[in-house]
Amino acid sequence: MSPIKRVTLGQGGSEHDAADASISALVGRRFIGKVAVVTGAGSGIGQAVALRLAAEGASVAALDIAEEGLGSTVEQITAAGGRGTAITCDVTSEESVIAAVAATVEALGPPTVVCNVAGIGGFFNTVDMPLERWEKILAVNLTGTFLVCKATLPHLLEHGGCIVNVASNTALMGQAYSAAYCASKAGVLMFSKALAAEYLSRGVRVNVIAPGGVDTPLVGAFQLPEGGDFNELKKVMSPLGFATPAEMAGSVAFLASDESSYTTGAVLSVDGGLTI
Ligand SMILES: NC(=O)c1ccc[n+]([C@@H]2O[C@H](COP(=O)([O-])OP(=O)(O)OC[C@H]3O[C@@H](n4cnc5c(N)ncnc54)[C@H](O)[C@@H]3O)[C@@H](O)[C@H]2O)c1
Repeated sequence: MSPIKRVTLGQGGSEHDAADASISALVGRRFIGKVAVVTGAGSGIGQAVALRLAAEGASVAALDIAEEGLGSTVEQITAAGGRGTAITCDVTSEESVIAAVAATVEALGPPTVVCNVAGIGGFFNTVDMPLERWEKILAVNLTGTFLVCKATLPHLLEHGGCIVNVASNTALMGQAYSAAYCASKAGVLMFSKALAAEYLSRGVRVNVIAPGGVDTPLVGAFQLPEGGDFNELKKVMSPLGFATPAEMAGSVAFLASDESSYTTGAVLSVDGGLTI
């Protein structure tokens, strides 16, 4: 029986602390001497990934568009004896991404681990969905992932390395009111497989995790649209409930580590059985 207990949505606090404590007993030292770039590192899963990689010895460049969260991430890394630097970055801007990667190299050295976690979403009736929201969701989730991979790949090709992209169970199954989100995440999945094929023989692995429901602030952005029916969403609710961000970080860390050295182009579903 796993020591990690399910959590009550939106409560955070001691339930998350208990899960984190269970997981910390399993943490290794797989990233000593490595530099990792983590996007979306100011909140939720990205923050947990940054903390996990740092706890395992990585020097972490924590990238996010939101500065406040980044400060907390780097404070927590430093307090735990790790090394991290906060870099404000909008992943939808190629200029901003290039500057962030240059700042990473200057502060920590060339990255060899890249985790694309930044993402946004929301529920919409497709007929009412503003074009700008469609474009924004694709820009952050899909184009942002492309831009960060493009800017970091030269370092990964030079030194060897790996990329872990965060998709979603919605890359594998339809979710009502989520056309843009599903399309963006399916795009992340096939973009990652394409990269894995392109760099298969050149020392760069590219893998994906596909989380189900994780208790993060993002969940609050998914409010039923006008006339929406909650029953349509039951199939994307795992009977196991919601996961904690740290549970996702464990799977990301595995795929980012040399323990998964024979794994590339893979999709690891971490979704409480939604896609069984
Ligand atoms: N929470 C879930 O249930 C769930 C399920 C499946 C997949 N995911 C995916 O996991 C990833 C992380 O989500 P989360 O739940 O931790 O959400 P979150 O809202 O807690 O964190 C997302 C982070 O991305 C950052 N971000 C947004 N736009 C950005 C931009 N343009 N440039 C840089 N950073 C930007 C935000 O500031 C935020 O810190 C997302 O890709 C999300 O789609 C989440």
